[in-house]
Amino acid sequence: MTRFKDQVAIVTGSAQGIGKAVALQLGSEGALVISVDQNAEGANTTAEECGNSSIGIQCDIGDPQQVSSLHETVVTQYGGVDVLVNNAAIVPFIAWDDVDFDHWRQIMRVNLDGTFLMCRASSDVMRKKEYGRIVNIISNTIFAGTPNMAAYVSAKGGVFGLTRALATELGAYKITVNGVTPGLTNTEGVQSTPHKDAFEFVEMLQPIKGHNQPSDIAPAVVFLASPEAHRITGQVLNVDAGMVRW
Ligand SMILES: NC(=O)c1ccc[n+]([C@@H]2O[C@H](COP(=O)([O-])OP(=O)(O)OC[C@H]3O[C@@H](n4cnc5c(N)ncnc54)[C@H](O)[C@@H]3O)[C@@H](O)[C@H]2O)c1
Repeated sequence: MTRFKDQVAIVTGSAQGIGKAVALQLGSEGALVISVDQNAEGANTTAEECGNSSIGIQCDIGDPQQVSSLHETVVTQYGGVDVLVNNAAIVPFIAWDDVDFDHWRQIMRVNLDGTFLMCRASSDVMRKKEYGRIVNIISNTIFAGTPNMAAYVSAKGGVFGLTRALATELGAYKITVNGVTPGLTNTEGVQSTPHKDAFEFVEMLQPIKGHNQPSDIAPAVVFLASPEAHRITGQVLNVDAGMVRW
């Protein structure tokens, strides 16, 4: 398939996990992928695997200057951006009693502020072409209120609201803004935290058994990022083997 031929797609947090799976699928369908991550080596490796002259760019999405210089590079080198997938996030495991303001700000800075900064900069570029697809990776924890993640759930709830608000603001420019809410997924990030011990419990709640893999999430994201999804905006697609029915 070449649904993304001649398109430029930015995928944040694509050095590993869900972001990498999304980047690889976009690349396999013809996109030139800008693989963005604070992990430069990982971003470059993903870009190489994507093909189509894709590039990796090191960027901390919570830093306004880095986000601005990323967009300057993309506009100068490629003339614009067609697809933005906001995937980069910190996924903490921390009991409510240990949540202090520093932790709260750390999570908000990346998970909510970073998504805002990327949307702000990319949508300004997309408006000029009157075309764009923004897909925000949220989380089914916003429905479940999952424990040990209060700041994370709050930040992702903010992204949920931003998705709807931006869909309203940007529709006039033929830019769609949608979200995907994955359930617990087997990524490097999850495997490095106590979240890895939750698979059995989560599976009990899923009508469809088995563990979600990054490649199970990517097709939903890529569909919403595709030209054919042009009449869908302000929506959230839940991909969690049916754990949450909302
Ligand atoms: N894995 C899950 O169970 C799950 C479930 C629901 C939602 N999600 C969401 O899916 C997305 C990806 O999750 P994952 O499990 O693949 O994550 P992960 O931790 O495996 O990978 C996250 C990537 O984001 C990058 N990153 C982190 N902070 C960054 C920053 N400030 N700037 C640039 N890059 C940064 C990391 O370097 C890493 O490569 C996240 O938005 C997460 O909240 C994951």
